[in-house]
Amino acid sequence: MPEQRNPALSEEFRRMVDDFFSVQCRYQAAIREVQTKLEILDDEFQMRHQRNPIHHMQSRMKSIQSMMDKLRRKQLELNIASAVENLTDIAGIRVICSYVQDVYTVANLLTGQDDVHLVRVRDYIQTPKENGYRSLHMIVEVPVFLAEGRVMVPVEVQIRTIAMDFWASLEHSLRYKAADSVPEEISAELKQAAVDIAALDQRMQSIHDRVDALAVKKHP
Ligand code: GTP
Ligand code: MG
Repeated sequence: MPEQRNPALSEEFRRMVDDFFSVQCRYQAAIREVQTKLEILDDEFQMRHQRNPIHHMQSRMKSIQSMMDKLRRKQLELNIASAVENLTDIAGIRVICSYVQDVYTVANLLTGQDDVHLVRVRDYIQTPKENGYRSLHMIVEVPVFLAEGRVMVPVEVQIRTIAMDFWASLEHSLRYKAADSVPEEISAELKQAAVDIAALDQRMQSIHDRVDALAVKKHP
């Protein structure tokens, strides 16, 4: 049977694909910009203090599938324009730091830059989530320069220590495995593990500060 063509439909489809690629290009540019800013901050810190506050970074752009899933959950319109309008985590960067203090140092150095606009902060280190999750979350907007001019693009930046990341990563896979039905006893133990990890982070910070003080005495 010959293929049935609906020109209006294929035109709409082509437009959707074009829209998606132009949006993707914009968010990927914003990720690269923020990542470069963070790399420069890390290099400069290394030069001044002979160590890197950033242990490593990860970045990701939300897939079309998870954008649509989130819009559906929030009962919003299911298209790219609605995703751009309503979702602030299309572009995401996770910054894993060595010590707790580094989390705030990195956050302040980034948001102190005059082309970085801070939209929202959620400090889940100061106020952990009910399940024990700890991390500093920020939404920042950075300017991306396109042929059509300057657009401000939001990026979700999650900053946490190696220890907090270890917990979050295992908790995520456990929750996924248990399909949201973790028994109370297990979630209580997981929460206690997060408290133990926070105590370890404090201990490592204190060891670091003491070693730093010794180094200053040796080479003032
Ligand atoms: P989302 O709709 O999930 O994006 O939440 P939100 O817009 O209220 O933002 P929030 O700052 O609470 O969380 C955003 C992101 O942080 C999530 O997409 C996860 O990557 C991470 N996150 C938040 N809570 C948890 C948690 O309990 N465990 C883990 N492993 N990650 C979390
Ligand atoms: Mg999210």
